[in-house]
Amino acid sequence: MYHEWKIRYNQPNYLEADLSEISNETRFLHAIEMGLGAWQWGDRLVWQYGNGYTDTDVQAAFESSVGEGIRFVDSAEVYGNGRSERLLGQFIQATDQPVLVATKFFPYPWRFTKKALTRALKGSLERIGIESVDLYQIHWPSATMSTDTLMEGLSECVKSGMTRTVGVSNFGHNRMLAAYSALARHNVPLASNQVHYSLLSRGAESKGILARCRELGIRMIAYSPLEQGLLTGRYSVEHPPAGTRGGHYARMLPKIPPLLKLITKIGQDHGGKSNAQVSLNWVICKGALPIPGAKNADQALHNAGALGWRLTDEEVAQLDEASEAVFKE
Ligand SMILES: NC(=O)c1ccc[n+]([C@@H]2O[C@H](COP(=O)([O-])OP(=O)(O)OC[C@H]3O[C@@H](n4cnc5c(N)ncnc54)[C@H](OP(=O)(O)O)[C@@H]3O)[C@@H](O)[C@H]2O)c1
Repeated sequence: MYHEWKIRYNQPNYLEADLSEISNETRFLHAIEMGLGAWQWGDRLVWQYGNGYTDTDVQAAFESSVGEGIRFVDSAEVYGNGRSERLLGQFIQATDQPVLVATKFFPYPWRFTKKALTRALKGSLERIGIESVDLYQIHWPSATMSTDTLMEGLSECVKSGMTRTVGVSNFGHNRMLAAYSALARHNVPLASNQVHYSLLSRGAESKGILARCRELGIRMIAYSPLEQGLLTGRYSVEHPPAGTRGGHYARMLPKIPPLLKLITKIGQDHGGKSNAQVSLNWVICKGALPIPGAKNADQALHNAGALGWRLTDEEVAQLDEASEAVFKE
C-alpha cells in the first residue's frame, strides 16, 4: 500500500486535484487557500487562555484574518467548553464580512445514537447564533458509534439544513474510505478530512491520506500546520513552550534546528518571508488547507503573509528532505 502511494507522489500531476471528483456542494472548500483555527479561543489547558491573551486579543486575530481575506474559521463544541463557538458568534455578528464556519461533533462515550449528532449541532448553532454552518465534522472516531451510524447522523444534519457540508477529522485512510462510502449511500459527499499535517508531521502523506483525498475530491484540512508554534522558530531546547506543549515536544525540539535553518534560508530567498509563512506555504503547495491558530492580531496578520506567493518545486523537495531527516535519527 505504502509503495503504491509513493509512486503516486512522484507523478507530476499529483498536486492537481481531480476536479471531476469534486461535488458542487463541496467545491467552495477547494477554493479556500487558508483558514483560521479557533482552538485557542478559550482553551486554558494547552493554550493558557487568559494568561497573556484575552477575548480582545482573539477578536483582533479574527478581525485581522478577515481583513486579509481569510474567511474560513474552524471551531469545535469542545474548544474552551463552548467558549470558542460563543466568541465566534459574537465576532461574526460584529463584522460585515461574510465568514465560513466549520465546527465539530465530539464523540463522547455517552453519545451512541445518530440523534446525538443533530442534537449536538443544534447546540453549536445556538452558541454561534446562526442557522447553519458550512462544514460539520466528526472530531475523532467514536468508541461507541460505528462509522455507519456517525455518517447517518451527519447526513441527517445536511438534510435538516443545519449544515451545508460534512466532514471527518482524525480518520485514518480506511476509516475515511468507509465514511466516504457510507455517506455516498445517503447521497451526501464527504467534504473533508481534518488531520495533523505539517513539516513535522507527515503521516497523512506517508499513509496515503493526502493522495486519496485528492483522488476523491475530499479537501484535506491540515491542523497544527505550525506544529503548535515549533515551526515559527520561537522555541528551542533552552526555551521550550509553556504548559503541556513543553513535555509533548521535549524529544522533538533538539532535532529541529537543521530544518529551521533551511526554512529560514528559503524565507530569506523569498524577500524575508518568516518561518511561519514558509511552513504554511509548504502545506498549501502540498495541496492541503492549513488552519493555523492565532492568539492575537500580530500572529494572524503574520500568518496571512503565507498567501500570495509560492515556494518552488525544488524548495518543496528540499523541505521534504529536511523534514524526513528529523525523524531518521
Ligand atoms: N481536529 C483536531 O483534532 C484538531 C487538533 C488540533 C488543532 N485543530 C485545529 O487546528 C487549528 C490549528 O492547530 P493548532 O492550534 O494546534 O496549532 P498551530 O496552528 O500549528 O499553532 C498555533 C500556535 O502557534 C503560535 N503561533 C501562531 N502563529 C504564530 C506566528 N505568526 N508567530 C509565532 N507564533 C505563532 C501560537 O502559540 P504561542 O503564541 O503560544 O506559541 C498559536 O497558538 C486549531 O486552532 C484547531 O482549530 C484541530
